[in-house]
Amino acid sequence: MLQEKLKELYGLQAELEQLVGEWDLNFKATASNGKEYIVKVMRKGCEEGLIALQCATLFHLENTTKEILLPNVVLTKNQQPYAKLIVDGAERLLWVLTYCSGTLLAKYSPHSSKLMYSFGTSIAHLTNGLEGFNHPAMKRNHYWELTKSKEVQPLTVHIQGAAKEQAKTVFKQFEEVVYAKLIELPHSVIHNDANDYNVLVNETVMGEARVNAIFDFGDMSYQPTICELAVALAYAVLDKERPLQVCGEFLKGYTAIRSLLEAEIEILLDLIKTRLVVSIATSSYRQIKDPDDPYITLSQAPAKKALDRLSQVNSNFALALFRQAAGYPVTKHAPAVLHYLINLPTRPFPVMEVDSFKCILDLSVGSLMLGADPTAVTLNPLTKSIWEKMEQANVAFSIGRYAENRHLYAASGFGDGQYPTQEKRTNHIGLDLFCEAGLPVFAPFDAIVEYVNIIDLPLDYGGMLVLKHQTPKGHPFYTLYGHLSHDTLKYIAVGQQIKAGEKIATIGADHENGGWPPHLHLQIIIDFLDKGIHFPGVALESEAAVYKALCPNPALLLNVSNIAKFDATPNLESILARRKLRVGYNLSISYAKPLHIVKGYKQFLYDSQAQAYLDVYNNVPHVGHSHPHVVNAIQKEVGLLNTNTRYLHDRILEYAERLTAKMPEGLDVCYFVNSASEANELSLRLARNYTKRQDMMVVASAYHGHTSTLIDLSPYKHNGPGGEGAPNWVHEVPIADDYRGAFKSANPNVGELYAQQVYQTLQELSSKGRQIAAFIAETYPSVGGQIIPPSGYLKKVYEYMRAHGALCIADEVQTGFGRLGDSFWAFETQQVIPDIVVLGKPIANGFPMGAVVTTKAIAAAFDNGMEFFSTFGGNPVACAAALAVLDVLETENLQANAKKLGAHFLKSVKELQVKQELIGDVRGEGFFLGVELVKDRTTLSPAAQEASYIVNRLREQHILAGTDGPLHNVLKFRPSMVLEQRDMDYLLSTLEHIFEETTLGLMKK
Ligand SMILES: Cc1ncc(COP(=O)(O)O)c(C=O)c1O
Repeated sequence: MLQEKLKELYGLQAELEQLVGEWDLNFKATASNGKEYIVKVMRKGCEEGLIALQCATLFHLENTTKEILLPNVVLTKNQQPYAKLIVDGAERLLWVLTYCSGTLLAKYSPHSSKLMYSFGTSIAHLTNGLEGFNHPAMKRNHYWELTKSKEVQPLTVHIQGAAKEQAKTVFKQFEEVVYAKLIELPHSVIHNDANDYNVLVNETVMGEARVNAIFDFGDMSYQPTICELAVALAYAVLDKERPLQVCGEFLKGYTAIRSLLEAEIEILLDLIKTRLVVSIATSSYRQIKDPDDPYITLSQAPAKKALDRLSQVNSNFALALFRQAAGYPVTKHAPAVLHYLINLPTRPFPVMEVDSFKCILDLSVGSLMLGADPTAVTLNPLTKSIWEKMEQANVAFSIGRYAENRHLYAASGFGDGQYPTQEKRTNHIGLDLFCEAGLPVFAPFDAIVEYVNIIDLPLDYGGMLVLKHQTPKGHPFYTLYGHLSHDTLKYIAVGQQIKAGEKIATIGADHENGGWPPHLHLQIIIDFLDKGIHFPGVALESEAAVYKALCPNPALLLNVSNIAKFDATPNLESILARRKLRVGYNLSISYAKPLHIVKGYKQFLYDSQAQAYLDVYNNVPHVGHSHPHVVNAIQKEVGLLNTNTRYLHDRILEYAERLTAKMPEGLDVCYFVNSASEANELSLRLARNYTKRQDMMVVASAYHGHTSTLIDLSPYKHNGPGGEGAPNWVHEVPIADDYRGAFKSANPNVGELYAQQVYQTLQELSSKGRQIAAFIAETYPSVGGQIIPPSGYLKKVYEYMRAHGALCIADEVQTGFGRLGDSFWAFETQQVIPDIVVLGKPIANGFPMGAVVTTKAIAAAFDNGMEFFSTFGGNPVACAAALAVLDVLETENLQANAKKLGAHFLKSVKELQVKQELIGDVRGEGFFLGVELVKDRTTLSPAAQEASYIVNRLREQHILAGTDGPLHNVLKFRPSMVLEQRDMDYLLSTLEHIFEETTLGLMKK
């Protein structure tokens, strides 16, 4: 019947699909020409004025708002915006809208900061579009209007749990403070319900989701304009761990299009909370009437959680953040104070009698004074090295910088103890003056004492003091002094008047200053945000922009000419620009957003902003970045001897003996060089010399090193961008990839079939009179896509090669030293013994070293009169590092660790594969792992874009992985051997979430 009516009234022939709707009947209509519409049959008794109102609004927006997608009203054949139907004897209104395509914001993930920014811009465009529009039916008088929130207050009694008290507080604040301010603010027609089910997201650029459409104008109203944002933000903050950051991004987007008044921003947080409370109260009331409706409880939970989170935030901090995001100074008087401090008419009285400002310390994350372990910054050695620096510089004071991200704060109050990738307070928003305990501190300006306190917690202030000052125009600001002696409190009291230059304190010793090397923490605070003595001296990096604006660089008080010298904010753009200028152009940088890594410890890397990244990619730090045992071994040895191998030395022998003990019988002689490239070069010389042949056989997509000869031997390079193909002495065989190659894993003879290809190539070459010196292969190809060759493959290949008189070289650079869990060398799993084994990368945990291990016969042949010499190869320091790696592998039982956790990864990702079509193949052994992504499991069409998306998303979640394979569609995981169960759990759960993300799903289409 509806279909007929559509045809009759609109001339529209369409298939109908019913959509959910609480009161009205809604249908998606697909016309015979493919165009899509929304057909709405309104509830009985629906006011005609309401529909007329919506139609008038949409007509208006059609002309004013082109930047976002909005539904358009489709006119009837008689040019009417709606029609009337008689359904079951009652009149119902029918109207038709164009369909907006996209994904509901509520169903879209991830809610990236760019998405929230675009939500803000879309709301601003809508507000601009509605500006000046009004309609007689716009006076709604409905409790969903924020100005009417008081009407919902009685429903608070129905709220369960902690939200009830929170709601009471919110309603009280609304009634006593917010309402009066709200009704004075500019009004306009607003959509009033930009909830996450009325907002659509679309993909613009790859992986860059944008809010692009808003629909359902049924709650429109003439309201204070700011209410539009409050409603949208009440939904935007749902399920967000850091709701203020979400609001900040939204506001940046909004104000890029349309400005906000300070008075609007001032009550925004209260309004967001009010909207949440109205929603919780009404749904709690509905719950009483409909206790069995699980949907009500379900939808209430995120709102309660968001209310809880927002109830805990400091509203003054939120206001400062909102103001900054909206382009205003953090507080109204911040610019005036800053202006005063920058242009002081007379020098402030010196805070301390500093003899010199030349000794500026580096206490940043990457400081050479502090070592790698972020949890083991012990203060005694720090005190010692600070004093050493001061003695060297012959000064009595040294300076700790402002805005420096530090790993010094190893106490729970700073967030220490949580998982390393979680954010901790690290950004030092004061300035330190290190000096002897007992030295006096003076007031820089006239002041009144605001706080005097002892905070006797480890790494806290100990004795602390805050002075309140005023600019000549009467703007207050404060100076904070931390780590004072407790005696200070004896001669100063809150409320006391202080004159500029008056002594106010003395520097505390470590037993009374929180345990620190004696120093003054000096901080300027423009506004205490009502945080009192809990105002931080060290901020979360994600909040640092606000805190830095509230606490300008205290060097302003120090009579120094260049205050920027005391500011440690890293400048990534400048680092990138300098790199581009001076470092070889084709050295690539990982990730769309480059990382500035300044230190590594075990399985984590740390950037200059003190953020930790779980490293599951770098296979060089085999026993973990900066493993103390290896570091110690290197430090000791380099302090003793570092010379070439033409003298007798124990270290090279110890290592050669321990290394060959790990090799099968027959592989007895070692050569040491400085890199795997050098080692592969040498292996080629050995083979050519032994066989007196020149030609080599290589595997497709292989990589063996960066020298000219090895580029010739690396199809990955010479067949890739910029490559010039293989020279005539290099012969390529297919990679034994039983997932994507010619023969699949289901075939019981797959290994032999791939080996057969090698045999055929050999035959063809022999028939042309070409003889192969050696077959070189990464035992498990890595850049080829983390390939596990089928069993029996190498055994057969080696047989064929040997029958041909050729040698077999195993490049174990990626797979050696226990990475595979089951075996120490990958060739063991293939049950072969190579003639030459090439080692590199992990061998010395990152200290440059490469090695070649071969048989006595090959070594004897190589000893043909020409000396072998590599200046640095096998030096005592490299051998000490390599020995330490073997020690750690053994003492920490790391091969077994790789076996256990690698198996766990494979099992979990294979389970994920059942749900995630994108996962074509999961393969690996131990910590040599690959996940191949395909768009289609039959055609195996590679999902390279998806792989790149996942790796960049992992990076955003602070996990470093990579992609590889000739088609760039294999996720590659090669963590260091010290990865722990909780790291693996974090990796797996993060991967699982990313695979669920809408952006990824949309890419497949
Ligand atoms: C299998 C393999 N062999 C050799 C090399 C060359 O190593 P290096 O860059 O240390 O010379 C690499 C480097 O990625 C490699 O993966």
